[in-house]
This record gives sequence, structure tokens and C-alpha cells, in this order.
Amino acid sequence: MAPTKTPAKKKSASARAARGPTKSSPWVHKPRGKAEARVYLGDCRDILPTIPEVKKGQVDLVFADPPFNWARDYDRHQTGQTWDDKSMSASEYLAFTHAWLDLCIGAIKPSGSLWVNIPDTWAAEIVVHLKARGLTMVNWCVWHYRFGQNTRGKFINSKLHALYFCKDPALKTWNPDPVLEISDRRSIYFDARTEDKRDGMPAGLRVPMDVWYGRYWGRVQGNNKERRHGHDNQLPEVYLDRVISCSSNPGDVVLDPFLGSGTTGVVAHALGRRFIGCEYSKANATHACERITLGPIRDLEAMRGDSTAIHGPRRKSARGARTGGGAASSSADA
Ligand SMILES: C[S@@+](CC[C@H](N)C(=O)[O-])C[C@H]1O[C@@H](n2cnc3c(N)ncnc32)[C@H](O)[C@@H]1O
Repeated sequence: MAPTKTPAKKKSASARAARGPTKSSPWVHKPRGKAEARVYLGDCRDILPTIPEVKKGQVDLVFADPPFNWARDYDRHQTGQTWDDKSMSASEYLAFTHAWLDLCIGAIKPSGSLWVNIPDTWAAEIVVHLKARGLTMVNWCVWHYRFGQNTRGKFINSKLHALYFCKDPALKTWNPDPVLEISDRRSIYFDARTEDKRDGMPAGLRVPMDVWYGRYWGRVQGNNKERRHGHDNQLPEVYLDRVISCSSNPGDVVLDPFLGSGTTGVVAHALGRRFIGCEYSKANATHACERITLGPIRDLEAMRGDSTAIHGPRRKSARGARTGGGAASSSADA
């Protein structure tokens, strides 16, 4: 009997994501009615100049979390394809950094912003370079996390810098509303003045401070629900939710030249932004595509607005006042 032909199964989005981008063509994800996400494979210094939105200066927001020159193998164990993060001298690393920064600066619209996630080692050099290129610093934020590497000879490192620059302060996109959080006046002091504000801000809320921590803000490790196996440098979804919602609008173009496990793409896509990512490692790029297809682990809307108070209430709750947390950064975040 002749073998019966089974109809070719419709390829699911996740099967396409599982292939990821190739050297010759980007991975493109465009579900019906949603903004497109595109992922390119290779060195961002080669790829960025070929991307239409970059060539035309149409990017609204760049978020970059580059390799830190810290001898991380960036998933060599999985594929053998890796960015060799330990081979650069300081001057080589700076030349590399200036090259990708300049490509990103050229890509951004006059109303656009550039964020860089970077450790102490290189933050100052990057700030100096961006200022020399005419960008304006909006904030020098700090992402504080627990579970830094234990040390005896110096203080334990427990932060990364989130450097926030714009091209033109008068034109920059800035949306405080989606990132507002419960103020200490409400959660600790039950201060009536915060419930009747005259500065145009909603009652009991404030723009977050420039040091970022709190529930879900710990490093993505251990039993954290967001954790993807094989990525030790994955950023938490809350971090990108804050960056993308305050400095871009739905439909805007968001670019990440160092996509890694894909957190920027996951959040940008979920928030209705057009997304473009570059990644050197095939394994990382493929995981990023899978994550973009699946969407965020957290309920982004529900996570917003928590109190980050480091003290519990100091007074008896006033009637009807919403109380907040009272604990500093949590790292378990499961
Ligand atoms: C710090 S990780 C990014 C992590 C990411 N933010 C996340 O949440 O998963 C840096 C990534 O940049 C990639 N990379 C390093 N050099 C690159 C280059 N020249 N072009 C593109 N990607 C590069 C590495 O393979 C690594 O995945």
C-alpha cells in the first residue's frame, strides 16, 4: 500500500522562532495586528550600518547592554559561537565601545534616547564619550541588586549603571505615567498632603528615584521564574519595562545592539513597539526569538507602581490610604 501523505503541518510561530536568524537573513516576527520584531545575527558593528531604520536615523530608543570585557564566555559552552569577551585590552575595548556607540547615536531621531547598562569599570568613559558627541545626560540611574559576588578585600559590587541620554532635551520622548510608584509619603507616613497634590501628579504617586531596586528587580538567577537556562546576564523584565515605557511610545522603533537572551525584545514587543535586535551568538539569538514569541513571564501591567520604601509604616494607616511594601530589594523574585 502506498504510504499516505500527511498534510504538512502549519509551521507554528515557535517553530520559526526555534530556527532564529541566519547570517544572511534576519528573523522577522509579525503577528497579525502587532508591531514587527526583527533579530539579526552577527557583530552589531557590521550589521547596524545595513539596517534601513539605522541608515535613515529613524530609531526612537536604543537600549544597549554590551559585553563588559569581564571574560564571560557568552554561551561558548552551547555552540562554540561566542563573542570572545576576554581578548580585548582596555584601549581595544574602548575603540569597540566608541564604534558601536557612534553607530547608535547616528541611528537615533532628534526626539530619541540612548540607554547603556554598564558596570563601574566603563561608565565614566562612556559618559565622557556621549557628552563629547553632543548628547545630553537625562539621568545617571543605578540598578541595585542583591547577591553580588562576595569579596573580602573591597566592598561587594551590587549595582550596574543605567546611563540615560537624549539627543535633544526639548524634544525627548518622556512618559512618566506608566512608571509612577507609590511614594514614601503614602506608604510610610500616610501624609495627607500626598493625597491632595497640587503639582499635577496623581495622589500618592511619584516618579521613581534614580536608584532602582525592589520586588522583581533582583538579578535573574536561582529560582527566578524569568530565568532562561544558560544565560547568566539576563536583565529582569521590570528594568526594560521601565526604560521602554518612559522613553518611547507604542509604534516607536526600539533597537538593542546586544540582544543576549532577548529581554529588550520581549518587553518592547509586548508593549507594542517595533523592535530591532542584533546578537553575535546564534544560541542567544535563537533563545531571544523564542522569548519574543512567547512574551513576558511577568504581568507587566500588574508589576508597576509598587512601593520601594525601605521602612515599614511609621504611623497608623489613615483611612483609605494604600500601603506599600516596606522591604528593600528582593532578589528571590520567584
Ligand atoms: C550582557 S549580554 C546582553 C544580555 C541581555 N540584556 C539580556 O537581558 O539577556 C551581551 C550580549 O552581547 C553579545 N555580543 C557581544 N559582542 C557583540 C557584538 N559585537 N555584536 C552583537 N552582539 C554582541 C553577547 O553574545 C551577549 O549575548
